[in-house]
Amino acid sequence: MTMKTYFGSTLSFTMRTWSSRWKVVTTRICLAYLLFGKKMALVPYDDSALWGTQKLHQSSSVYNFANRTIQIKQDWKQLGVAAVVWDAAVVLCTFLEMGGIDLQGRLVIELGAGTGLLGIVAALLGAHVTITDRKAALALLESNVGANVPTDLRTKAVVKELTWGQDLASFAPGGYDVILGADIVYLEETFGALLQTLDHLCSDQTVILLSCRLRYERDQNFLKMLKGLFAVHEVFYDSNHDVHIFKAQRNVRNRDL
Ligand SMILES: C[S@@+](CC[C@H](N)C(=O)[O-])C[C@H]1O[C@@H](n2cnc3c(N)ncnc32)[C@H](O)[C@@H]1O
Repeated sequence: MTMKTYFGSTLSFTMRTWSSRWKVVTTRICLAYLLFGKKMALVPYDDSALWGTQKLHQSSSVYNFANRTIQIKQDWKQLGVAAVVWDAAVVLCTFLEMGGIDLQGRLVIELGAGTGLLGIVAALLGAHVTITDRKAALALLESNVGANVPTDLRTKAVVKELTWGQDLASFAPGGYDVILGADIVYLEETFGALLQTLDHLCSDQTVILLSCRLRYERDQNFLKMLKGLFAVHEVFYDSNHDVHIFKAQRNVRNRDL
């Protein structure tokens, strides 16, 4: 063995050892992080992404809103995005609970409700809510609503199928005071149908609240499309979760554009 080969293989052995030790160290730190939550200070890489993924894979998640503990069942493996609670829903629930809009006695519809957390909180805050999503999401949605809306409020939270752009005649045109949507702006192919649905459900007085993380350029494009039909203002930004809340209302002047 020449000196060059000897030093080369020693160096590569040392690097391999370091690399596997580093993997063990980082894995342990991550496990400790997962076990002990956000209190750990030393985190060698993007812990929030890891924690976020972990949250999505849990079979349930617990929240406190409207003086109640809300336990939401999740099922990422079976149903994917519709069966986990997204940060945008939690941020909009917080906004509603802080009095961002008065929901007492209001007729509310939630679009793309997923697990139903937002609609449940709206009902607990006094609204009459129609909580909607696609057919595949409805069983889990029903079960979460049943488990978290007390019997005396049960008539205030109705689960109904609504695939954007379809069978809109079964929803009263302009029939809602408030339309809620959390993290529903993400599929470009649905933007047209989503706008058509908002347009159908809105009267001149209806308030639309959409919470979203603006991940891609297409999400900004949706906002431009939304501004073609409605007057849109950002009313809140949660920098910890990178979630925006937009309020939209019928822009009467642009109605025929
Ligand atoms: C990212 S998830 C958000 C779920 C929930 N709002 C939350 O924030 O936790 C998007 C939701 O939009 C629903 N969705 C997607 N395309 C839809 C469509 N064309 N019609 C109705 N709902 C749709 C999905 O089923 C899913 O529940």
